[in-house]
Parts: sequence; structure tokens; C-alpha cells
Amino acid sequence: YVEGMTLPDEPTYINGHLLANKLHPLPATFAPGESKEARAAFEKMAEDAKRAGFTITAFSTYRSYDYQVDLYNRYKNRDGESEADRYSARPGYSEHQTGLAFDIGEVGNEKDFASNRFGQTPAGQWVNENAARYGFILRYPEGKEDITGYMHESWHFRYVGDIAEEIMEKGLTLEEYLDAP
Ligand code: DAL
Ligand code: ZN
Repeated sequence: YVEGMTLPDEPTYINGHLLANKLHPLPATFAPGESKEARAAFEKMAEDAKRAGFTITAFSTYRSYDYQVDLYNRYKNRDGESEADRYSARPGYSEHQTGLAFDIGEVGNEKDFASNRFGQTPAGQWVNENAARYGFILRYPEGKEDITGYMHESWHFRYVGDIAEEIMEKGLTLEEYLDAP
């Protein structure tokens, strides 16, 4: 975060890709809802996952600015600001406000929702290995906290469309791919 930064009037697009992170916040009024294109891609992935034996669901996708206010405050009150900042975005800074972030879990294994145990399960591994074919990238990979600003989240995927496969094959973050901090 940049101390004293206020939310902008427009979101940041780099080469046509929406970027939301600790240095590129969104307007509080930015409220696109869940992306239809991302939802359709997710449903396709879920069908193929089912054929592979896994029933996956997106347990959190679009979140409004106001919802993020409540969520972040709850975490901040529980864990303190610096700890909360490692895993929860401040209002205006969440990728969930773009409508392009999908938190993925396995139906029947709700206890691993929003837990890195998900990445250790066969369902989580299937999603990690196949998400890029549907346009999704693992947004907060292990060991990239310095770049993304967040700890590893094996359940949080970002819809980016056809650049997903290159990003995942090269093991990049969205920041590295777009060459934007
Ligand atoms: N958990 C992610 C970083 C968010 O709050 O948007
Ligand atoms: Zn998420």
C-alpha cells in the first residue's frame, strides 16, 4: 500500500487486462458484478472436473466494495492490521471487486474452503493443473508474496482469458507478466 493513497476515478488496465493489487486500487463505485465470461469458463472447467471425478464450486466470486469493508474489518479486528493485510485486501484493493476472481473449493470438503489444504487435495491439484486451459491463473502463488502482496492462496484464481496458459507455464504472477508492480 502507498500511505495516504486515495482510490482512483478509473480502474487500471494494462494491455487490456484489469489489474487490482495493493498499488492499483479500484474506484469505490466500480461494481461490475461477476464476469459472465469468467462464469462461463468456470462452468466449463467444473464440467470437466466432474468428468475427472471432482465436484468443484466457486464459493466467493464478485464482492462489492461495501462487502469488502465488512470482511476486511472483521479480519483486522481479529488478527490486527499487519496480519490481515497478508491475506485480506483493504476495501477498494480486492481483486474480488473486479468480478474476475473465483475462490474455488470442492463440494463436500467445505472445511478446506479458503485453506491451503485445498491445494494438497486431488481436487485442488486438478484445478491447479487445468485452470489455465479455461483462462484462469493461480493468482497468489507460493513464494511470490513480495510481488503479489499476499500470502499463497491455493484456492484463489483470476480469470485472464487466453494469456493464462503462458502465465502458468512460465510460473509468473500477473504483476510479472504485465510488468507492473
Ligand atoms: N484474499 C484476497 C487477497 C482478497 O481479499 O482479495
Ligand atoms: Zn479470493
